Amino acid sequence: MEILLKAQGITKTFDTGAKTEVLKGVDLTVEDGEFVAIVGESGSGKSTLLYILAGIDTPTSGEVVLAGQNLATVSDDDMASLRRHDVAFVYQYDNLVPHLNAYENITLPLVLDKQKESEFKERVVALATELGIADRLKNYPNELSGGEQQRVAIARALAINPKVIFLDEPTGSLDRERGRQVMEILKEVNEKRGVTLIMVTHSLTHAGYASRRIEIEDGRIK
Ligand SMILES: Nc1ncnc2c1ncn2[C@@H]1O[C@H](COP(=O)(O)OP(=O)(O)OP(=O)(O)O)[C@@H](O)[C@H]1O
Ligand SMILES: [Mg+2]
Repeated sequence: MEILLKAQGITKTFDTGAKTEVLKGVDLTVEDGEFVAIVGESGSGKSTLLYILAGIDTPTSGEVVLAGQNLATVSDDDMASLRRHDVAFVYQYDNLVPHLNAYENITLPLVLDKQKESEFKERVVALATELGIADRLKNYPNELSGGEQQRVAIARALAINPKVIFLDEPTGSLDRERGRQVMEILKEVNEKRGVTLIMVTHSLTHAGYASRRIEIEDGRIK
């Protein structure tokens, strides 16, 4: 198996008046095709770690190699390419652009990548059908249920055919049934498409969908 992500000695200290040492040396290796759940108490540093692994935030010390790129030394062009083609992120809240409809939200990364609609439209509609939102594509985010919005966000992540999707509490704002549906979709995305998933979750039930669970406690992996 190919190694998709290797993080070594990750620390993170926030210095806002008082210093908060959130991560105290995290090592993590994720192989291509894994579905990893990151669990831990509120405030334990799950989101902080996820942002660092995805290259959205930088560690205080330590190294992350993601899809063959060392995030500390990667050029702007290579980083942009990683974001356009290989790495997607699904946030817990405010996932979607409010003034774009569902279709426009899903295809935004493709449009920004200057891809032609004639070349992606069919694929995106098929993806939306698979996720059960094909009849909601003309609707704006405020006209969609939480579960539908989350599925649009997952479709947008999948639209670029990424190697890996990072997800921060993708079911956090959903009720139990919709949360279960989203987890079933993610499991299928991982198993059928082979997309690597790295997901933060509060829910031990949802962590059970993953192939591996890691727990953060006191700034380290337990
Ligand atoms: N930008 C920041 N500046 C200062 N402190 C921060 C910052 N971001 C996070 N923290 C602190 O770091 C700690 C870890 O935050 P983080 O968001 O990673 O936790 P979490 O495990 O994701 O929690 P939750 O489950 O509640 O989302 C918290 O104590 C938080 O207050
Ligand atoms: Mg968090």
